[in-house]
Amino acid sequence: MHNTFIMAGVMGWPVAHSRSPLIHNHWIQQHKCKGAYGLFPVEPGHLDAAIQGIRALGLAGCNITIPHKVDAMKYMDWVDPMALRIGAINTIVRQTDGALHGFNNDGFGYLQSLQEAQPNWRAETGPVAVLGAGGASRAIVVSLIESGATEIRLLNRTRSKADALVQEFGAPVTAFDWSQRHEALAGVALLVNTTSLGMHGQPGLDIDLAQLPETALVSDAIYVPLETPLLQAARLRGNTTVNGLGMLLHQARPAFKAWFGVMPEVSTELRQTIVASL
Ligand code: ATR
Repeated sequence: MHNTFIMAGVMGWPVAHSRSPLIHNHWIQQHKCKGAYGLFPVEPGHLDAAIQGIRALGLAGCNITIPHKVDAMKYMDWVDPMALRIGAINTIVRQTDGALHGFNNDGFGYLQSLQEAQPNWRAETGPVAVLGAGGASRAIVVSLIESGATEIRLLNRTRSKADALVQEFGAPVTAFDWSQRHEALAGVALLVNTTSLGMHGQPGLDIDLAQLPETALVSDAIYVPLETPLLQAARLRGNTTVNGLGMLLHQARPAFKAWFGVMPEVSTELRQTIVASL
């Protein structure tokens, strides 16, 4: 195995904008691995064949991104319990016997990004308010539950989607109407935006932070722009903020470890490389 060239990549549609090649190829060079990480534009109708191709081509594995994260699960020989709970995978690791194992490292990346901003951060510190109930929300909510969050207030424009997550995950999650997002911030230790509001080209989140404690950590899953209107407003009133770049960078670490055998670090240099590409 040691002399083999290790290949991995990301399957998505569209996938051209993905920063994953920059991240993984940075680590490949840094650790002097023999290998490469590429972009695989996979149309939805070709997902089955593309995943079987991991075996056929002898790839070490693949990242899976939009729109394949949910569908890809059914082609796995085994899915990690965390990914099963999230209901989606973002990483495939081919085993020596050819079996394909599915993982979801988005929640890991999110928790790491919080810890990077505030090393003593603990999920059980206080209530959490989560805005949004889509794919990113599921990964973040599951990771918060697994790390011991005792109260997660879930607010989504479409209330039924928040209710469905409460049904599925049970306590500690409770659903609120989108119109309650301002007062739901009272007493929270962490506020997370997982909606697309505030993303480049989209309107900002319309939320009044008056009830939010100044000690609360405020995070956004968005990384373009690095500082969303939400994070700017939070910073200006004294809250510690965490943008989505850390989640993106840290979710890649366990995948790189699985494929290339080294747990890489998120260095200032890597961060600068990615920021320069945004
Ligand atoms: P992701 O995988 O990034 O989480 P997603 O699954 O499409 O993307 O979820 C998008 C989230 O942003 C949803 O919670 C969505 O709310 P709805 O469930 O009501 O659609 C939220 N969202 C998108 N546009 C929004 C808007 N204009 N106002 C409020 N929430 C919005």
